[in-house]
This record gives sequence, structure tokens and C-alpha cells, in this order.
Amino acid sequence: MQVSIIAAIDRRGGIGRHGDLLYHISADLRRFKALTMGNTIVMGRRTFESLPKGALPGRRNIVVTRQTDYKAEGAETAGNIREAIAMAATPVFIIGGGPIYAQAIGLADRLELTVIDAAADDADTFFPAIDLDSYRVERIERPDTEPQCSFVTLVRIK
Ligand SMILES: NC(=O)c1ccc[n+]([C@@H]2O[C@H](COP(=O)([O-])OP(=O)(O)OC[C@H]3O[C@@H](n4cnc5c(N)ncnc54)[C@H](OP(=O)(O)O)[C@@H]3O)[C@@H](O)[C@H]2O)c1
Repeated sequence: MQVSIIAAIDRRGGIGRHGDLLYHISADLRRFKALTMGNTIVMGRRTFESLPKGALPGRRNIVVTRQTDYKAEGAETAGNIREAIAMAATPVFIIGGGPIYAQAIGLADRLELTVIDAAADDADTFFPAIDLDSYRVERIERPDTEPQCSFVTLVRIK
């Protein structure tokens, strides 16, 4: 099963603040939708609870939690990331947040990153360090956004 991580990170690796995204960039949200639609999305319980309208439609939503009795409307639950990936029958996108990315980065074949040309000084959630030696750059796209960002696809080579 193909496993991708998809994340929007700023120059300091920040991804969130107070349970919300750091930036809301519509071109990034469109890209997220286009890549994940019809596929399986795996997320931590806190990311699930940060979704403004709950489970994302058109995708199989799997929430990773240690709570055995957790009920996530419109979503399934898994006790850890490997279990979530094993449940999937379509390509998997790991959609966050911080601890989930940190645990999944070694399992992912691809990183679909939106690198945002900004640096929030109050981020409280971060993407893990990326060992660039382990990837090749497959694609870079520079959409016209504010703040400016780049869509970067990295593919694991080792
Ligand atoms: N910029 C981006 O691309 C992006 C993407 C996603 C999220 N975010 C941001 O990230 C923040 C939310 O994410 P977060 O980092 O706080 O938390 P998170 O990773 O979404 O969720 C953490 C929770 O996941 C569960 N979990 C983690 N590791 C586990 C394991 N090994 N086994 C079982 N369950 C496990 C636990 O749930 P239980 O406590 O229920 O056991 C844990 O409390 C928000 O600010 C959000 O906006 C940003």
C-alpha cells in the first residue's frame, strides 16, 4: 500500500497553533483535497477534533487514538498508525498532526509538502526533521499564494 504524508509546514517546521492551522491557503486546501479524495486518510485524534465539519467526505477517515472507547462520527478508529495503514484498501495519506507525522515519517514512501514562506513565532506543533538524503525531489510547484508557498513532492529513495 502506498503511504504518503501530506503536510503544510512553515520555515521553522511549524504546522499548528492552539489546535488550528497556522495559515489557511486556499490553493493548499484544494491540493489537499485533490490528492486525498477517494483515498484513505489517517490522522491523530487531536487533528480529527480540529476539523471544522468533522470527518472529511469522499475519503475513508481513520483516527488513531489510545482510547479504546473513542467514537469518531464518520470515521473509524485504530490503536496505532501501523494498524491504521493495515486497514486501508486504497492509498494512504497521513494527514497529521505532530506526533503522528513523527511516528509515520519512517513508514511513508512520499512526502507531499506545502512549504510556506513564513515563520510563525507562536507555533506549538511541529513537523519532524526531514533527512533530505533519503529522498529525491519529484516535483516542485510554486503557486501564486499569500503567503507564498511551494508544493514539494519528495519520494523516498532509501
Ligand atoms: N499544517 C498541517 O499540515 C497540519 C496537519 C494536521 C494537523 N495540524 C495541526 O496539528 C494540531 C493537531 O495535532 P497534534 O499534533 O496536536 O495531535 P495529533 O497528532 O493530531 O493527535 C495526537 C493524538 O493522537 C493519538 N496518538 C498519537 N500517537 C499515538 C499512538 N502511537 N498510538 C495511538 N494513538 C496515538 C493520541 O490520541 P488520544 O489522546 O486520543 O489517545 C494523541 O493524543 C492542530 O494545531 C492542527 O491544526 C497541522
